[in-house]
Amino acid sequence: MLLHNHMPVAFVTGANRGIGFELVRQLLEQNYTVHATYRSSMGGLEGLVHPNLHCHRMDVRDASQIKPTLERVSTPIDLLINNAGIADGRWASVEEIDFEVVSNVMEVNAIAPVRVTQFALPLLVKNGGKVVMITSLMGSIEDCASGRSYAYRASKTALNMFTTAMKSELQERGVAVMLIHPGWVETDMGGPNAPLQASESVTGILTQINEQTLATTGRFVDYAGNNLPW
Ligand SMILES: NC(=O)c1ccc[n+]([C@@H]2O[C@H](COP(=O)([O-])OP(=O)(O)OC[C@H]3O[C@@H](n4cnc5c(N)ncnc54)[C@H](OP(=O)(O)O)[C@@H]3O)[C@@H](O)[C@H]2O)c1
Repeated sequence: MLLHNHMPVAFVTGANRGIGFELVRQLLEQNYTVHATYRSSMGGLEGLVHPNLHCHRMDVRDASQIKPTLERVSTPIDLLINNAGIADGRWASVEEIDFEVVSNVMEVNAIAPVRVTQFALPLLVKNGGKVVMITSLMGSIEDCASGRSYAYRASKTALNMFTTAMKSELQERGVAVMLIHPGWVETDMGGPNAPLQASESVTGILTQINEQTLATTGRFVDYAGNNLPW
């Protein structure tokens, strides 16, 4: 039974390029009203003129930008996708770990998604709202044979735990959370050798999101729906 037939509202971070941009494109196709946020340059969003698209400049590290952005949204949010993320660059050895890089990667990949979620919580639809974290298999402790990539791996592991730890509190409010690994995707981060196109990854991600329910909140899956090892 359809209780309400309003157009669903999505909020996507890091939406000017890569997976975030493709999420915006496909969400618009699926009749969402989309609030797309970008750090500094609008990138692809500039060419994406659509009556249901609203773009906001927002650095996810900056609480003073998150609050006014959400005030401008002001309508209930059905779907929050924390997508913005950064890599840690070099395949550094233990000796080469650069702790300024580590702090920044932790701030963007692990802390910022939690802060955005905290600020968005009052707007998230009770009974049916969804929070999606774009995480990575690189954050898996069990799947870490090659090691390295210290900051990126640790940041996604921390994101997975933040999300798992908030699962029950959000479930009580009728909000489901999920952790999705997009696969290895050809973007600036994924590089030219990645086997997956953003369009295919995002089609899978949106299928997983549509299938997400409160009963299965907290799952850690890839874009094709495969359960991943923690
Ligand atoms: N590509 C892959 O193979 C792969 C695999 C596993 C997981 N992921 C995850 O998927 C997500 C998207 O990655 P992608 O491949 O699309 O990477 P990408 O092409 O490098 O795009 C990253 C996006 O994040 C934004 N961003 C970075 N720092 C930000 C900040 N402080 N505030 C706001 N936005 C910020 C970037 O904005 P600017 O343009 O302003 O820098 C850009 O829009 C990330 O969380 C990544 O860890 C990707």
